[in-house]
Amino acid sequence: MTSLLETPAPAAAGHLALRRGAARVLLTNWTGSSTVPSRGLYPHQWSWDSAFIAIGLRHLSVRRAQRELESLLGAQWSDGRVPHIVFSPAVPLDAYFPSPDFWRSSTAGAPSGAPAGTETSGIVQPPVHALAAWLVHLADPETSRSRGFLPRVYDRLVAWHDYLTGPRDLGGGGLAAMVHPWEPGMDNSPCWDGPLRRVDPAAPGSYRRADLDHGQAAERPTDLDYGRYVRLAADYRDSGYADVPGEHAFAVEDPCVNALLIVSEHALARIAAETGGDPALHEARAARLTEALVARLWSPSDGMFLCRDLVGGELIPERSVAGLVPLVVPGLPQHVVDALLDTATGTGFRLGEVPMAPSYDFTGHAFDPSRYWRGPAWFNTNWLLERGLRRYGRARAADALRTAMLDAAGASSFAEYVDPFTAQARGTRAFGWTAALTLDLLAAARNSDDTGPAGPAAPASALPIGART
Ligand code: SER
Repeated sequence: MTSLLETPAPAAAGHLALRRGAARVLLTNWTGSSTVPSRGLYPHQWSWDSAFIAIGLRHLSVRRAQRELESLLGAQWSDGRVPHIVFSPAVPLDAYFPSPDFWRSSTAGAPSGAPAGTETSGIVQPPVHALAAWLVHLADPETSRSRGFLPRVYDRLVAWHDYLTGPRDLGGGGLAAMVHPWEPGMDNSPCWDGPLRRVDPAAPGSYRRADLDHGQAAERPTDLDYGRYVRLAADYRDSGYADVPGEHAFAVEDPCVNALLIVSEHALARIAAETGGDPALHEARAARLTEALVARLWSPSDGMFLCRDLVGGELIPERSVAGLVPLVVPGLPQHVVDALLDTATGTGFRLGEVPMAPSYDFTGHAFDPSRYWRGPAWFNTNWLLERGLRRYGRARAADALRTAMLDAAGASSFAEYVDPFTAQARGTRAFGWTAALTLDLLAAARNSDDTGPAGPAAPASALPIGART
């Protein structure tokens, strides 16, 4: 571990400092078996954070990156779900809300297969894990093979995807559904305003928010949002965390979640080929999911994907960055790719004009440049867009986005999110995935084209964004 702060190859002085700063965040946030997103605001292990963190950690220590994923998967429930938080017993109960005594996974979750010896939440987050496992493997295949890394995680990753495509296909149309706004990871996205209106908030005095001890109220979800989050989580807990079609007050299909599932399914095909499994099964599932994604969530009039409300049955007329993330999916129809690129550069998201894409349409009625997922630019979604631009041949636009992200990460002290106009820091600082994805963007060999066949729209030249092929 002595070499974690060393640089393997010469780099520009600015990049050297950036790399050291990012590495320092990951060293500071490392607990011994995983990485906390933030020492203050998020003091436990989070699911999709750990996946993004592993993608960056692989450039510092392949062993730690493997451990990050294995510790998360070690808390998997026997029904296949990977919980969105794995609680550390060393952290006081009042440091984070909802705490383990709220979720009560080991008792309330027992009917759904929650582990007895580890406390977790009972909901999930987007499935970035198979993609992360494959990228961690590619960083050092020899060490990966000698430690049996992929064979150890493969069955768990398959069970995770089986859970999402099985019990979580609540709409019956072949996509995974999310049953709480924390599950798609974009907690207070305006996409959830309509579906949440049907939910009675929990009484304000019945719980205490710990997030406001660490973050500014104007940059966090509102108290009304929290009341509804608490009600939905308590109801799910009281049902034994059962997934029953038609029984959830909140159930949505989200394009970012399903795009990540598709990319991860392609990664599982690669992992299967490496471990003696059957890649064809995974490629077939990825193809079915891609078809369902376009059939159920594509909105031609918006030129992007929308979320579907399974309770009301309709597409939700709110445009969030989740609807552009499917650019990471290989093999999209040409007209979909063209429209996504137009929308990304249009007045709603202004990619190429502002530093980074906002989390919600600049022209949307609910846009707020500071409040969590209602406008600020986040590093994980922009990292995904950067990959999507490369996948579909927009290398010059991807390079520009990469440069803007690196500038914003350094200038903001690795902020959780930034103002999308000015890139000024918002949310907490020294945030795990911001630091990790910075390391990934800085790395020379990023294996960015190893998660699926090239899309049909990928030309050889580096066209500017928006240019037709
Ligand atoms: N993002 C949520 C929080 O802010 C939980 O996953 O605590």
